[in-house]
Amino acid sequence: MASRWRALGRNLAALSRGQDLVTRAETAQHALAAERRRGEAVCRALVDRHCDGWELPPPPLRRRVGADDTPLEFWAKGIASSGAVLDVFGPAPDSPVLDWGCGSGRTRLWLQPHAAWRTHYYGCDVDADAVAWLAQRGVEHVAVCDEQPPLPYPDGLFAGLFAFSVLTHISPEHHRAWYEEVRRVLRPGGVAFVTTLGEWALARASVPGQDHYRRHGWVFEADARPGCSHHLSAVTEAFTRTAVDGLLAVGGYDERGYLEHQDAWRLRRP
Ligand SMILES: C[S@@+](CC[C@H](N)C(=O)[O-])C[C@H]1O[C@@H](n2cnc3c(N)ncnc32)[C@H](O)[C@@H]1O
Repeated sequence: MASRWRALGRNLAALSRGQDLVTRAETAQHALAAERRRGEAVCRALVDRHCDGWELPPPPLRRRVGADDTPLEFWAKGIASSGAVLDVFGPAPDSPVLDWGCGSGRTRLWLQPHAAWRTHYYGCDVDADAVAWLAQRGVEHVAVCDEQPPLPYPDGLFAGLFAFSVLTHISPEHHRAWYEEVRRVLRPGGVAFVTTLGEWALARASVPGQDHYRRHGWVFEADARPGCSHHLSAVTEAFTRTAVDGLLAVGGYDERGYLEHQDAWRLRRP
């Protein structure tokens, strides 16, 4: 009897600890929601003060470029990408720079405070709705481009090019062709900053996909949802070094250097 009584006590105590965990998780969830609201308020204030009150694109357009359609997701990732752009190309470019795969301007929005960027920013995307939204917002040099090269620009137009989370959705079988195109639109000495997915993305791939990555250095898994461009494309560092070989010089490789899960490449047209 005594041992059954003790066992009952142990079980009930465990259950009450479980309840503790639920209560702590709920408290953490409330705290996180409050932090997110604070983060959104900070971003909104920055947009109002520095970016001419730039409006958010509608939720469906935000969802196409992000993990979700929250304002915080859109603003925060744009702060990260625009920070990298300002690091690489500086606040005052004097020649055109292309945002290949610009989406609805998540990066462009945070370049608004810089007069030179308002002049020299070019953007293109396969998403005609996103491009139309940017054009309506008054962004001048935006264009719809095709899924495959060529881009709608003459040889050597750009002093720079950046592409955040774009090659991460394009099959690696086409990466070399895209690097050839990047080289074509860059002028000699021009710099490209692009991101790729690698090892860290493999958890999202199927088991056969992971196996393919280990054997061939890349994996591509299409997202079959209609209108969805969230395909998974991951490559090893060696894959990209081979893909750019003879086209672009690698000036920098930063493993997980963008948003802590995408590899960042600084490439230069010789
Ligand atoms: C994850 S979103 C990133 C958008 C933007 N670069 C940013 O960081 O906010 C990927 C973008 O790449 C675009 N895209 C996919 N394949 C493309 C291609 N072949 N050429 C141009 N854009 C492409 C998609 O339409 C989408 O806007």
